[in-house]
Amino acid sequence: MDIKGKVIVVTGASSGIGEATSRKFGAEGAKVVLAARRVEKLQALAGQIAAMGTGAETLVVQADLSRLDDIQSLIRQTLEKFGRIDVLVNNAGFGRLDWLEKLDPVQDIQAQMDVNVMGVIQTTRQVLPIMIQQRSGSIINMCSMAGLVGTPTYSIYAATKHAVHGFSEALRREVKPWGIDVSMVYPGGVVTEFSQHAGIKRKTNAATPKFMLLTADQVADAVLKLVRRPRRMLIIPWLWSVTVFMNKFLPGLVDYTTIHRFTIPERKDELKAG
Ligand SMILES: NC(=O)c1ccc[n+]([C@@H]2O[C@H](COP(=O)([O-])OP(=O)(O)OC[C@H]3O[C@@H](n4cnc5c(N)ncnc54)[C@H](OP(=O)(O)O)[C@@H]3O)[C@@H](O)[C@H]2O)c1
Repeated sequence: MDIKGKVIVVTGASSGIGEATSRKFGAEGAKVVLAARRVEKLQALAGQIAAMGTGAETLVVQADLSRLDDIQSLIRQTLEKFGRIDVLVNNAGFGRLDWLEKLDPVQDIQAQMDVNVMGVIQTTRQVLPIMIQQRSGSIINMCSMAGLVGTPTYSIYAATKHAVHGFSEALRREVKPWGIDVSMVYPGGVVTEFSQHAGIKRKTNAATPKFMLLTADQVADAVLKLVRRPRRMLIIPWLWSVTVFMNKFLPGLVDYTTIHRFTIPERKDELKAG
């Protein structure tokens, strides 16, 4: 797909991967709909895109993706301004990473489900009739390595991303005959605001190795690649595929290493106290 002039809705465009992706769509001269809650950040980004002089257009929509009426309004406003939707990037999401019993049932658990799962499903549900009528479209869902491999403290986040994985796989097979592609991207750790919202309190240095960390721009490049040439799955960096393979074929080994290298060292004091 040639990106110039295409109508592209990006959720979670106010920071990180969504912001970097929207900027790249702007550089290609697309009509970019910027959606998130922090409208002042979206307006600043719209200004930067306009200043690129690529012929790109933008529409800023303040939307809380956990609210169905906000999602409906986002799609309504997009159609009013641009009349069609070529690409939907379901990117908005966040993680609250802690031991399950320490997560707040509403603020951490329900809220992640509402945005990461229901937000993706309901936004896609609103866009689909338009793409079906057009007989064309591309849907890119921002999954995560956590959507393929579950690790300690990621229980809810992993549940949401596994849900996005299953939803996307089924939908891909449902909508292909209408000329609609569904692609999924699975980044490992990315340097964004994500960790600021995650409430991570690590005792050990059991984190993504530095050489495996991605920038938001690298993930944005992957998204643009999927718009141009849809693929079922894109794992980045590719080296994570080894972990996915091991998790599938040697799950006992992955259990052993995560429990002994992560869970026990992290909870040593609590375990002793008990
Ligand atoms: N960073 C990583 O290591 C990593 C790895 C794999 C996958 N991912 C996924 O990549 C996506 C983007 O994350 P990021 O790393 O770019 O983090 P980020 O910088 O924190 O960006 C998250 C975006 O989601 C938006 N968002 C959050 N809650 C929302 C809500 N209720 N309604 C509307 N928008 C909402 C935020 O906008 P507002 O706050 O303005 O609403 C923000 O634009 C997420 O789906 C995340 O799960 C991240």
